[in-house]
Amino acid sequence: MSRVESFLSKTGSNIQSKVDLTKGTLAWSIRAIKKAKEDPTFINATIGSAKNDDGSLMVLPTLNKIMADKLSGDKLFGYANVRGIISFIDAWKEETISSYPLELQEKARKMSSTPVPVSGGLTGGLFIVGAAFFDKETPLISPRARWGNIDNVYYKHLGVPEITFTMFDDAGSVSWEGVKESLDLAVDKYEKIGLMLNFPNNPMGYAPNQKEINELIKIIKNLSTPTILLLDDAYEGYVYEEEGLNHSLFPHVLGVNENVLSIKVDGPSKKYFAYGSRLGVITLEKIKADKEFDAREFLAKAARSVSSSAPRGIQEGLGFILSNEELKKQIRQEKQEAITILKERFLTFKNELKKYQSDKITPVNSNAGFFGFFILHGLNAPEMGDKLMKKGLGTVPFYNERTGLNGIRVAFCSVSKERIPEMVKTIYETAASMK
Ligand SMILES: Cc1ncc(COP(=O)(O)O)c(C=O)c1O
Repeated sequence: MSRVESFLSKTGSNIQSKVDLTKGTLAWSIRAIKKAKEDPTFINATIGSAKNDDGSLMVLPTLNKIMADKLSGDKLFGYANVRGIISFIDAWKEETISSYPLELQEKARKMSSTPVPVSGGLTGGLFIVGAAFFDKETPLISPRARWGNIDNVYYKHLGVPEITFTMFDDAGSVSWEGVKESLDLAVDKYEKIGLMLNFPNNPMGYAPNQKEINELIKIIKNLSTPTILLLDDAYEGYVYEEEGLNHSLFPHVLGVNENVLSIKVDGPSKKYFAYGSRLGVITLEKIKADKEFDAREFLAKAARSVSSSAPRGIQEGLGFILSNEELKKQIRQEKQEAITILKERFLTFKNELKKYQSDKITPVNSNAGFFGFFILHGLNAPEMGDKLMKKGLGTVPFYNERTGLNGIRVAFCSVSKERIPEMVKTIYETAASMK
């Protein structure tokens, strides 16, 4: 045992031995940024931040302007109310609900708690939900293809038991068989369980269609074990094909089963292209039988006891914009323009895919989000990631020996439409050259 290990807590030991920042998205992104500095023709498709065609970060002008010009020092630097800045939480709730289908809006208004902003982006929200609702005996069932920080927060830091289901078969199509099997397995063994869903999905870029949602709801309706249904809505609304769910699953699952508590985690990171604003937002399903439970107060206590109050500036900025009709219209318009650019890139990506055939890689049938994903057959994802990097394309390999995940993620959100054909060509040519 090293000297420092005698000082570490069990959690500290888990963090030290299990969390590895040298292999995930950030590590591949750092390599790509370095390469791009040496080679101006390098394509960096590693990171989930939307970029303009010239490589600069996409920013919403109205948000930028209000943050820079309209917020006084106290609004930027003062402590925020730990229960959230009122203008922000009211506007956030309404803006989110207004994205739901009309027939679900009233239910959502009645059955959603007041949203509570927390520090540390969506990750902060996911951690607080983990600490407040999961024990070492509460497994989290999550899709095999998932954002790597779910592993860091839940399975490695918090030590929650891991159950993984496969959502996409090897042909790249959705199936709920895997989630059904995992739920059956978990309910036999545990007294309380958790299920994490993330749509549009990172890394697969998928949002389910109505038929798939109906099937999923049927599964959720049948649960007789207390279940935390955790919705990671980081990419809410980035949907490019008609059939994909273009809003959160939250209003669809509210009230469908008394044994299920749905929790929505979202935030401005991707929703308002404000990645560094470090604000997460948690909304709980209101429990009918539990009128005494003050969800807002509970969440505020959970957040306060981890990292005090959440950043104030971004709450003030978004609160100011979303509670002013003119500015709200403006920012919606700017977001729509950004989504149009992302959609053009997505459609170019999908079109290019049609030109190639390979028995070594299968693109997932994506329709949403910031990413495309290739399932590999007989190739090793990190090896392919290395080769692509050398050929001038930065991607993120997703590889997990235990779960069998083996694929390459490309962030089309940060590649100009003009360079997407080259990106797809490089992927197919590289796969063809590998044994
Ligand atoms: C699915 C998913 N959830 C959450 C996050 C993280 O959000 P934040 O940066 O606000 O912690 C990401 C970021 O890439 C993500 O892909």
